[in-house]
Amino acid sequence: MSTRILFRTLFTTLLVLIILASQVQSQVISNKLKESLEKNRIGNIIVTFKTRPLEALNRVVEKIRTIKNRGERLHLLSNELENNAFKSQNTTLEMLQSKRAKYFSLWLTNQVSVRGASIDLVNTIGSLPEVLRVEECKTFVFPQEKFQNSSTTLIEDIFSEPQEGHDLPVDVEPIGLYMDKLEVAKAWKLGFFGSGIVIGIIDTGVVGTHDALRDNYVGTKNYGWFDAVNTTKYPIAVEKYGFGHGTCCLGAAVAQYGIGVAPAAKWMACLAADEDGIWYEDLVLSCLQFMLCPTDYQGNNKNCSKAPNIVTNSWYYPSGEDDSVLREITPVLVESQIHFLFCAGNEGPGCGTVAAPGSYKDFIAVGAGTHEDNLQDYSSWGPGDDGIIKPDVIAGGKWVHTTCTGSDYTYTTAEGCSLATPMVAGVVALMLQKNPSLSPAEVKQILMKTTTNVTALNEDECGGVPVNKIPNHQIGYGFVNAFNAVNSVPVS
Ligand SMILES: *[C@@H]1O[C@H](CO)[C@@H](O)[C@H](O)[C@H]1NC(C)=O
Ligand SMILES: *[C@@H]1O[C@H](CO)[C@@H](O)[C@H](O)[C@H]1NC(C)=O
Ligand SMILES: *[C@@H]1O[C@H](CO)[C@@H](O)[C@H](O)[C@H]1NC(C)=O
Ligand SMILES: *[C@@H]1O[C@H](CO)[C@@H](O)[C@H](O)[C@H]1NC(C)=O
Ligand SMILES: *[C@@H]1O[C@H](CO)[C@@H](O)[C@H](O)[C@H]1NC(C)=O
Repeated sequence: MSTRILFRTLFTTLLVLIILASQVQSQVISNKLKESLEKNRIGNIIVTFKTRPLEALNRVVEKIRTIKNRGERLHLLSNELENNAFKSQNTTLEMLQSKRAKYFSLWLTNQVSVRGASIDLVNTIGSLPEVLRVEECKTFVFPQEKFQNSSTTLIEDIFSEPQEGHDLPVDVEPIGLYMDKLEVAKAWKLGFFGSGIVIGIIDTGVVGTHDALRDNYVGTKNYGWFDAVNTTKYPIAVEKYGFGHGTCCLGAAVAQYGIGVAPAAKWMACLAADEDGIWYEDLVLSCLQFMLCPTDYQGNNKNCSKAPNIVTNSWYYPSGEDDSVLREITPVLVESQIHFLFCAGNEGPGCGTVAAPGSYKDFIAVGAGTHEDNLQDYSSWGPGDDGIIKPDVIAGGKWVHTTCTGSDYTYTTAEGCSLATPMVAGVVALMLQKNPSLSPAEVKQILMKTTTNVTALNEDECGGVPVNKIPNHQIGYGFVNAFNAVNSVPVS
């Protein structure tokens, strides 16, 4: 090869490299964000940093597994992730502070969320060497059609009067078909009401003053409420439509007067949606972080000993939505040993309709059943990731009696996996009262093997599994049974 040709080749290579480099540079800011900024001039953005949280997890995972005390374990875990994040976020945070930008920092995902960022700010952040991506914050409208339909049959008059007595429901019977089907009364007779257990909920907020809920709120002093954007001090329900998704879901788990499965369990809540019912992914992530290691309502003074035992999640990513960040940090959620339950989805019937993250192997996905030993036709079907059985279990789907927004004495019936999931969260609370040291994997095993048989929708196979076999991809292992589950828990 002559020198000239060699030079030319080198020159071409260099040129290609330079072009590639500039493309890489410009790809830090997503095209979607660029387009949106051209139109709107400002945007809600999420900045992802290059050092990823799993690098931090890997440094401490062996150590974490040897620590018995839950608070200490979560403390070590969150500190390592936080240090990792703060190192990479420092310049960005200092700059945001100096510009008085409205932002919050996430150590769980090593991201920073900024509301109302200008084009200049986006470009400045995008040029920082430690920044991996700058994107528009994802929002999604949670598909709650089923839920809204059922809520139109509001029955405010179950208890239009304040109920007397806030003691344990010694004389109170569980209300409704699905409490019967779960055999909750028999579990209560054994003395299991969920006492000593805290259930966290990530949703559209809660009417914290509701007559059937206020007594078992852990309290704002005990880090019971978090709203990353507006840092409100006390639980609020944001929906202007009055469906009260969060309040309904929480009630099915812990409300008094025979409504909730675990009326002696305490609750804490985190706000993930705005008043238009729009969910923000960065708020969902801030809530998962809050559940791992709670802070005061302003986001300071974290104390991981206040983490809930269980987190009930009546939300899911709409089909086709990018769940990669949540998927990425799932190993961190697993190491927390907190019990996470997720709604399987109301996207059925049909194979492959189970939604993320219930579709992941590490979480319990709950589908919606009927009281006639069947599946609600809209309940999502598996298979989940890598062909695993999903949903894992089902529970009550329709006419679930619960608390609602409107007043402190408003009740409703509602339906969907949104209600089935907190009912199972309540069952897990009964189980943990008997033995708080059960791991999420153990709880899942017990729930699955103590179910009641139900028949699937039809004889089709799905994911290679005939639906007349148990488990299958419609009903999982079947309908949860609180009494059998509690009985099968080994005493600690
Ligand atoms: C950035 O790092 C410096 C030095 O460690 C520290 O004093 C400062 O508080 C950090 N800033 C933020 C916003 O974390
Ligand atoms: C919900 O209600 C709307 C309006 O009444 C109706 O068009 C829709 O079919 C209903 N959806 C379901 C799943 O029942
Ligand atoms: C925060 O408050 C503003 C103004 O009251 C409101 O428009 C917005 O929806 C709230 N944000 C969330 C996430 O609730
Ligand atoms: C953290 O919370 C636990 C449990 O509520 C409490 O006992 C402890 O005193 C708290 N620690 C601090 C430093 O406030
Ligand atoms: C439960 O389901 C299994 C598997 O389909 C079936 O063999 C068994 O007979 C069923 N039991 C009852 C009580 O229906």
